[in-house]
Amino acid sequence: MALSTISLLNHLLPKPSVPYTLTAIKALKPLLVPRRTSMCSFPGPSFSSSSSSSSWKSSLAQSTTSTNSTIPALHHGIPGPQDDLLVLGIETSCDDTAAAVVRSNGEILSQVISSQADLLARYGGVAPKMAEEAHSQVIDQVVQEALDKANLSERDLSAIAVTIGPGLGLCLRVGVRKARKIAGRFNLPIVGVHHMEAHTLVARLTEKDLQFPFMALLISGGHNLLILACDLGHYIQLGTTIDDAIGEAYDKTAKWLGLDMRRSGGPAIEELAQEGDAKSFKFATPMKQHKDCNFSYAGLKTQVRLAIESRNINAAIPISSASIQDRSSRADIAASFQRVAVLHLEERCERAIEWALKIEPSVKYLVVSGGVASNQYVRSQLDQVVKKNGLHLVCPPPSLCTDNGVMVAWTGIEHYRMGRFDPPPPADEPEDFMYDIRPRWPLGEEYAEGRSEARSMRKARIHPSLTSLIQASLHEQQS
Ligand code: KG4
Ligand code: ZN
Repeated sequence: MALSTISLLNHLLPKPSVPYTLTAIKALKPLLVPRRTSMCSFPGPSFSSSSSSSSWKSSLAQSTTSTNSTIPALHHGIPGPQDDLLVLGIETSCDDTAAAVVRSNGEILSQVISSQADLLARYGGVAPKMAEEAHSQVIDQVVQEALDKANLSERDLSAIAVTIGPGLGLCLRVGVRKARKIAGRFNLPIVGVHHMEAHTLVARLTEKDLQFPFMALLISGGHNLLILACDLGHYIQLGTTIDDAIGEAYDKTAKWLGLDMRRSGGPAIEELAQEGDAKSFKFATPMKQHKDCNFSYAGLKTQVRLAIESRNINAAIPISSASIQDRSSRADIAASFQRVAVLHLEERCERAIEWALKIEPSVKYLVVSGGVASNQYVRSQLDQVVKKNGLHLVCPPPSLCTDNGVMVAWTGIEHYRMGRFDPPPPADEPEDFMYDIRPRWPLGEEYAEGRSEARSMRKARIHPSLTSLIQASLHEQQS
């Protein structure tokens, strides 16, 4: 891509709002606001005063005169905690095009989502190029509808928040381009948002008592994360997946069982599992021998695939046309898969709570968020684990667990209030401008105790030679 003079300058000029404006070269740098100490303790001043080299931020700081300015006066200063902010959030990191307007008191003024469910059902997964086209086709309409439903125009906004990673680069670009167009035209600051941080922080919108530090289990199509959220922008990663995320395992299982994928695989499995016997297939719980907080779903997927083969289930025959016996086998597999997939979450959460309380004894909450957290079985099982350990479970409502614009707008509000944002882009930004997009972007730093075993486990996916053993054991169970 040819760099225009402006985009070259963009790289050379000092940039505000660390870590949001680092260029793509630093895409693997974790979202972690620099602090004086490691782990969860924070002596010294709050990070809102930790300086970046921001000419934008410091000039704003000088011009801030009031803490109770009203909309849209904040274009001229860093907002304070009392300020009434209106933020538009835009999300395009995967297969949903979403936008929402949220007020800083937590009021959701609008929420619009256009999903690519039909594409997903047709291809059984997200194809980046097609997803990008689908986002491009609807983004203008989705954003306009979000503004109309909120009864606002762009001029009423205080800032725009947009997901810049992690996710599919081509898709992220559509949202970022749209956000910068509006921000440039209406002179609005921009907050670049981490998708998984947004899944976490939306819980603070719905649960007003949720103060840092707290724990979060983030379970979606692409991520399985256990984190300790020490403070805004300060996260410790206790565990992650060494292969697939749980949502991916739900989606593949649904596809192989011939379920209706139009609402994604998760809800279809959840529904079918209610008809099945969860003990009928004795799938092995992943990573039993590894005493850490990491996850693995590749092996469970293989076990499910072999079980499906062993029952001669044909995914080309939709479940709606399956015989009674065939349907009952599919339901048994769905229920058995779900039981073990969630048991794996339960076991890891139990250990993570132990670790988190060692690091930070004042932790009281475990947030469970991300698409899979809309599952009622997941919620009730994790509620038991959390209660047993003296903590409280916080689950945003299902509509805020799956990808949405509200979580992006809210995360934008949280950061904007702390003075972390980018200046409005120029109104005439060239089309080939190098956007700051981070397809791979870790959330926080790895907890050292969780690191070593995870590394060695990367090699420990099911070995082909084990396949025949599993097959034999499945045959034994059936006979
Ligand atoms: O957070 P999300 O909307 O998008 C990503 O960031 O990936 O999560 C999507 C994932 C999909 O894998 C979908 O099957 C899963 O969340 N999901 C569910 C349920 N609803 C959505 N999984 C299990 N049960 C559900 N009810
Ligand atoms: Zn998500």
